[in-house]
Amino acid sequence: MTTTQDNPLLQGLLGERRPEPCAMVIFGASGDLTRRKLVPALYTLASERKLPAGFAIVGMARRDIPFVEQMHQAVARHARRRPIDSELWQGFAAGLSYIPGAFDDPAAYERLRAHLARIDQERGTRGNRVFYISTPPESFVDIITHLGRAGMISAGNEPFTRVIIEKPFGRDLQSAQALNDTCLSVLREEQIYRIDHYLGKETVQNILVFRFANGIFEPLWNNRYIDNVQLTVAESIGIEGRGSYYDRAGTLRDMVQNHMFQLLALMAMEPPVAFEPDAVRDEKVKVLRALRELPLDEIERWTVRGQYGPGYDQGQAVPGYREEPGVSPSSLTETYVALKLYIDNWRWGGVPIYVRAGKRMPKRVSEIAITFKSVPHALLAQGGRLSQEPNVLALRIQPDEGITLKFLSKTPGPTMDPRPVTMDFRYGTSFGAEPPEAYERLLLDCMLGDSTLFTRGDEVLASWRFCTRVLQGWAQADERRRGPLPQYEAGTWGPKEAAELLARDGRAWRRP
Ligand SMILES: NC(=O)c1ccc[n+]([C@@H]2O[C@H](COP(=O)([O-])OP(=O)(O)OC[C@H]3O[C@@H](n4cnc5c(N)ncnc54)[C@H](OP(=O)(O)O)[C@@H]3O)[C@@H](O)[C@H]2O)c1
Repeated sequence: MTTTQDNPLLQGLLGERRPEPCAMVIFGASGDLTRRKLVPALYTLASERKLPAGFAIVGMARRDIPFVEQMHQAVARHARRRPIDSELWQGFAAGLSYIPGAFDDPAAYERLRAHLARIDQERGTRGNRVFYISTPPESFVDIITHLGRAGMISAGNEPFTRVIIEKPFGRDLQSAQALNDTCLSVLREEQIYRIDHYLGKETVQNILVFRFANGIFEPLWNNRYIDNVQLTVAESIGIEGRGSYYDRAGTLRDMVQNHMFQLLALMAMEPPVAFEPDAVRDEKVKVLRALRELPLDEIERWTVRGQYGPGYDQGQAVPGYREEPGVSPSSLTETYVALKLYIDNWRWGGVPIYVRAGKRMPKRVSEIAITFKSVPHALLAQGGRLSQEPNVLALRIQPDEGITLKFLSKTPGPTMDPRPVTMDFRYGTSFGAEPPEAYERLLLDCMLGDSTLFTRGDEVLASWRFCTRVLQGWAQADERRRGPLPQYEAGTWGPKEAAELLARDGRAWRRP
């Protein structure tokens, strides 16, 4: 019989989540992510007594920096639990240390290995390691290879070695496959934690609870009742000084291939047989594999790219994308993308899935909107017209996290005039408590050995297979192109071509 003691997943479900003693090494510890997210999240976990006794964090990066001091400032500024409790900080800081070193220098790994051995002795971390690779992607292979060569990867589960890899996991199918091969030459799949912080968001996990803990929605969750699905991830910000990075990436790589396809997979997957890492990911990967290949020579009938031009953000004049520092003035990199997809399987056959993501949109919003088929016969008149207005279920990921259901209701008065109204669930008001940060959940899950909310290798490759074909189609289209990509004014909902993509199907984008 399984007991909670030997089943970390069961412990997790019951809220008894306390990992075994371990040390976490953060490669890239002088960087932005460590400062803004990782160490603040670990401090918050410490404040909630969720970290194991003796927990240690070792930072590593090229520059020599006053790590403990900088992390104090980072926690003071970014942790969810503020102000800093000085006694708690003292205890947390006692586990912090830093080793300067270049990621291609074998001597740096020898120093790290000796340092970790000392930590095992002093803090009782028992050889258990989490290596967090929070560096630019060019260093991923160096770090994994050197960890392997230095003998720092445990072959078995006791002690454990787990490696968290940040995005981007490759920039197309070929590079993702090569990176995956490198990972698997040193690590077993169950030691690899490819992080997608969207999966750490409460509202994203709630897609599973909403679908599989309630009996009333699942019978409707298919092509008999659903007319179309729209996934939107809109950002009001531009590229925030990351011009040279963004111009090589673009919205498809930066947002769609990872975060949005994870949302898509959770929305569309079949019920897993258990809430276990492989059972859940088996179902997600089937969705990604069922995405219909887009025709290369007609790619622009199925996809729309756009670039923001000059405009306004909250009343402030902002430059167009091609005028941003670090961006080529003749750039063909998209800051907006819209796709029409089909999932060719029994459940979703024939239901169009519209996906859009963009920068410099009128507001920041991420949502999945499911539009149901209209009633078969319009019986009632609305404002003199027969009403066909469909029900819409919107899962709002951020901000104003929650779920709304739009339906028609009788307007008070002597006529049977139906008007749309919404039923509204909001996390904030229903639960009161502030949700944990995505990184808190994911870091803790990794320490517990629970990879359910991390992306498996075959998922990443299936998603890249689809996206790489889109990139190939675009490259072919660009050979014929005269002039820039479709432009949209900053602060608007994207180029007119995106509206046309849906108008051809007799539909329109939602205004979230
Ligand atoms: N920042 C975010 O909000 C965010 C969000 C999601 C994902 N990510 C991903 O997280 C990763 C880290 O992002 P970041 O924003 O923290 O990057 P960053 O601010 O540029 O930091 C990069 C870190 O890597 C170190 N580094 C780079 N090359 C090195 C080398 N050859 N040897 C030793 N150290 C080296 C840097 O050390 P030095 O300072 O000493 O040069 C620095 O600590 C990236 O993969 C990014 O895509 C970031």
